[in-house]
Amino acid sequence: MEAQRLDKYISSQLAGVSRKDARELIRRGEVSVNGRTVREPEHKLCPSADSVVLGGKAVGYKQYLYIMLNKPAGVVCATRDRLSETVTELLPEELRREGLFPAGRLDKDSVGFVLITDDGALAHRLLSPKNHVPKTYFVRLRDPIDEKAAEDFLSGVTIDGGEKCLPAELRALSERECELTLREGKYHQIKRMFACRGNEVVYLKRISIGGAALDPSLSEGQARELTEDELLRLTKA
Ligand code: URA
Repeated sequence: MEAQRLDKYISSQLAGVSRKDARELIRRGEVSVNGRTVREPEHKLCPSADSVVLGGKAVGYKQYLYIMLNKPAGVVCATRDRLSETVTELLPEELRREGLFPAGRLDKDSVGFVLITDDGALAHRLLSPKNHVPKTYFVRLRDPIDEKAAEDFLSGVTIDGGEKCLPAELRALSERECELTLREGKYHQIKRMFACRGNEVVYLKRISIGGAALDPSLSEGQARELTEDELLRLTKA
C-alpha cells in the first residue's frame, strides 16, 4: 500500500478534521505513530500497517466506508441540493467524510435502503446494468393488484409505449401489497410499471440490495456501517 502523509491520513479518516486542523494537531504534539510523537505533518506512514493515535485515541484506517441508510421520505439521493435535504446530510458526525455519495437512487418520496460509500468501483459494479444486481422493494398500491401483473412482470413489460423492462418478480403479500424484485433501475420504474396497468404506488420502500437486507432495527433517518457479511452479500443475489 502506498505511503501517505500524516496530515492527509488524519483528515481523511476523521470527520470534521480538515487538513489544516490536522497539521495544527500534529505540530502541537498530539499525534503519535507507532508509539512515538511525530510533529511533522509531512511524515510518511503506511496506512494499513502503522498505528496512529490522536489525543490518546486510535485513528483506525478504513480505505472505504460502506453505510446503510434507511432513507426517509422528503430527502433526495444526492450529496448536495439547493432545495432539499440530501442523504449524506443525514449522516451522523462519526460517519461523515469527504467523498461519500449514494450508490444508486430512490425517488424523493420513496424510503428504505440506500448504500452510501466512497468506493467508486463497488458502486459501479452495483449500478452497472450489465450486472443485473437484484433490488427488492415493498410496494403498497391504491387498488388491488390485478391477476396478470405477476405473470406480465416476469415476462418483461414495456412501459410508456417503448421502454422494455427486464423480467421482474412480484410476490403478493395481500390484496394491495407486494414485494417486487428488479434487476435494473429505470427512472420511476416501479411507479411506471404499475401506472401502465391503471394502478398507483402509494408507498415504496427498498428492502434489499443484492443479498443484503435493510436492518429492520434502523428507523427512518438512521444509518450504520455495513457488517463484513453484508458487504459480501451486497453483490451476491
Ligand atoms: N421505482 C420507483 O418508481 N421509484 C423508486 O424510488 C425506486 C424504484
